[in-house]
Amino acid sequence: MPEFIPLISEQEIQTRIKEIGNEIAMDYKEKDLVLVGILKGSFIFLSDLTRHISIDHEIDFMGASSYEGTSTTGQIVFTKQPDLELKNRDILLVEDIVDTGRTLLKIIEFVNLLNPRSVKICSLINKKERRQVHIDVAYSCFSLEKGFIVGYGLDYDERYRNLPAIYDLKL
Ligand code: IMP
Ligand code: MG
Repeated sequence: MPEFIPLISEQEIQTRIKEIGNEIAMDYKEKDLVLVGILKGSFIFLSDLTRHISIDHEIDFMGASSYEGTSTTGQIVFTKQPDLELKNRDILLVEDIVDTGRTLLKIIEFVNLLNPRSVKICSLINKKERRQVHIDVAYSCFSLEKGFIVGYGLDYDERYRNLPAIYDLKL
């Protein structure tokens, strides 16, 4: 039986998202903010975050999946591209967790081709131990050295996204 060790409570998550939302609202006051959620893991985080950003902004989504091939390099496949025009706009990519950083690197490269004015990252969790590429996480709610976590949008094999808090999963 998998074991779920409580790591971050619902209350802690909500308090932190409120802080980050206020910070984003101040930083983007004079800008043209578009939140771009990376599916699927960010869907719950994004829905809470948007309600704590008091300035006008728009929302879009991108989908990315990583597949491990026969080589050790993970390949990223886009499953959804943004619908909105992103040219000359200020893009904030919203992720559930940055691990190796490879997924976000590919997404940033793709979004840059659309000629936005700026691209920054907002991640619920910044997991540092396995980072392989440099990613500047401008807004990070929580930092984690290692471990595999689930809940609040984060899955293990597509399950446990519905848990309202974040747990360390011990298989
Ligand atoms: P990266 O390309 O290695 O940074 O992978 C990021 C993606 O891997 C995230 O968007 C998650 O879908 C998944 N991931 C990485 N670590 C975890 C974790 O601890 N729990 C759940 N999903 C994770
Ligand atoms: Mg996932």
